[in-house]
Amino acid sequence: MEVIVRASADAVADYVHDRIVEQLRGVPSSVLGLPTGGTPVPVYARLVESYRTGVISFKQATTFNLDEYIGLGSEHPASYAAYMRHHLFDHVDCPARRRHIPDGLASDVDAEAAAYDRAIANAGGMGLLLLGLGENAHIGFNEPGSDFASRTRPVDLAASTMAANARYFTDGTRPPTRALSMGIGTILEARSIIVMATGPRKAEAVRRMVREAPTNEVPGSALQLSRDVTVVLDHAASSKLERHLRPPCQQQQAPQ
Ligand code: PGA
Repeated sequence: MEVIVRASADAVADYVHDRIVEQLRGVPSSVLGLPTGGTPVPVYARLVESYRTGVISFKQATTFNLDEYIGLGSEHPASYAAYMRHHLFDHVDCPARRRHIPDGLASDVDAEAAAYDRAIANAGGMGLLLLGLGENAHIGFNEPGSDFASRTRPVDLAASTMAANARYFTDGTRPPTRALSMGIGTILEARSIIVMATGPRKAEAVRRMVREAPTNEVPGSALQLSRDVTVVLDHAASSKLERHLRPPCQQQQAPQ
């Protein structure tokens, strides 16, 4: 696990943007794994700008989102399908047929989940997967207790996750209690993973992900088992790590 600490959330987004640009320019047909949530919003804004200025194209890329709420259709404003259109897909040239998000309205969610894993495998596996981190250290919607070998599947959301995401349900819709999520086993198959976390509310989850021995109770700690993981943090999210560094910050501070 390489840990990189940047001065601000903007600098974290710059770093992640640059890594995705490098990936797409090196391999235009890359298979990308993509997250939703608040943390990656500035990354998508930067990617849209780089597309507009001709720096990158998504024309040959394939994308797989981490998760979707069960019970929400792609037109629901709080669905992750709507999030992705709003923040990325409506503004770049990624063909619709190569953009994948689990179908939250699938009549057979188990079959939908199995088909999702097959589609990832058929695309050649994910070359680069971007992840956020929940305050309870979830990755995707793999909540504490998730098996490290788990595949894409229907999951129950933790109460803390529902509370954290309630802010997106402004129209009176009750936040869903279940989701389809890539499994931890599915995530660990990505050839390269970037985890981004910003803000003080993530500091404890970051500490547990990086410092604790891998345990099902800390889903993010499974990433210690991956060969190629970069954790990118702002100072606030790294605040419970830094006292372990000697000399402070230097070991993990990447060039700006
Ligand atoms: P956030 O969510 O980016 O909105 O904090 C991250 C997550 O829950 O994975």
